[in-house]
Amino acid sequence: MKKYLVIGNPIEHSLSPKLHNYWFKKNNIDANYDKKKIDKDEIQEIILEIKNNRLNGINVTVPFKSDVIPFLDVLSEESRITQSVNTICIHDKKIVGHNTDIKGFELSLRETQFDLENKTIFILGAGGVVPSIIYALEKFGVSKVIVSNRTKQKAQSLKKNFPNISVVDWGDQPEFDMIVNATSLGLRKEDNIDLNLKNINKEKLFYDVIYNPKETNFLKTGKSLGCQVSNGKMMFIFQAFEAFKLWHNVKPEINEDLKNYLDS
Ligand code: ATR
Repeated sequence: MKKYLVIGNPIEHSLSPKLHNYWFKKNNIDANYDKKKIDKDEIQEIILEIKNNRLNGINVTVPFKSDVIPFLDVLSEESRITQSVNTICIHDKKIVGHNTDIKGFELSLRETQFDLENKTIFILGAGGVVPSIIYALEKFGVSKVIVSNRTKQKAQSLKKNFPNISVVDWGDQPEFDMIVNATSLGLRKEDNIDLNLKNINKEKLFYDVIYNPKETNFLKTGKSLGCQVSNGKMMFIFQAFEAFKLWHNVKPEINEDLKNYLDS
């Protein structure tokens, strides 16, 4: 039986085991997917399990997506540029790091059918997922990406790999067509983003990478303004879909049953 694992800290709330084990059943794949909360100093040991054939693949989540990189033999181009790895496999005896968050974000954004060409995107936050979001956005022909982060220096340092982005102070509100909440604000129901969103017409897209809770205060604000809103659920499903393809060479089905099952 093949074995897969998602590592992170915290990990209790990860839905990856539920999703991958569901797809194993549907596709008659003899495998098991588990989750493990780890500390940073355990990363090397766990990655060695792949080399020793005790594990067949690993998903990496917050906060280790960069920390795993020194222990990998090969990085995909996308992982290198974003310095972020969420999927690890073995290929020709080499341990390879991939970033399927990019495709996850891209496919979820295509599903919204929001036209992004020549549009301005305003990103709140500069944490681990933001390089993947910027990388994906560049494929849509957007005209401008503006990043705002409480710790401005973290946003500034994104310019090393993404020189075309602009950075504004936390609390500033530039003109935008799409706004992305990529902060962890909203994971707790009482959280509020301290933005005084005014004079926003309803042509905007509000996108939150958070999917639990389903509707953050940020998305509620977007809705109340009459704007299109999207949470991070489809990004989560599509990043898993891409990892599944890499590991099993199978395209698992995504349908309403699956989406409901994840909510149950
Ligand atoms: P990751 O592991 O995904 O990188 P992170 O680095 O903790 O997670 O990113 C969380 C994001 O939420 C950061 O952009 C963080 O801002 P800072 O870089 O200033 O820490 C943002 N964030 C978390 N709590 C916040 C708060 N109370 N107000 C504003 N931003 C917040």
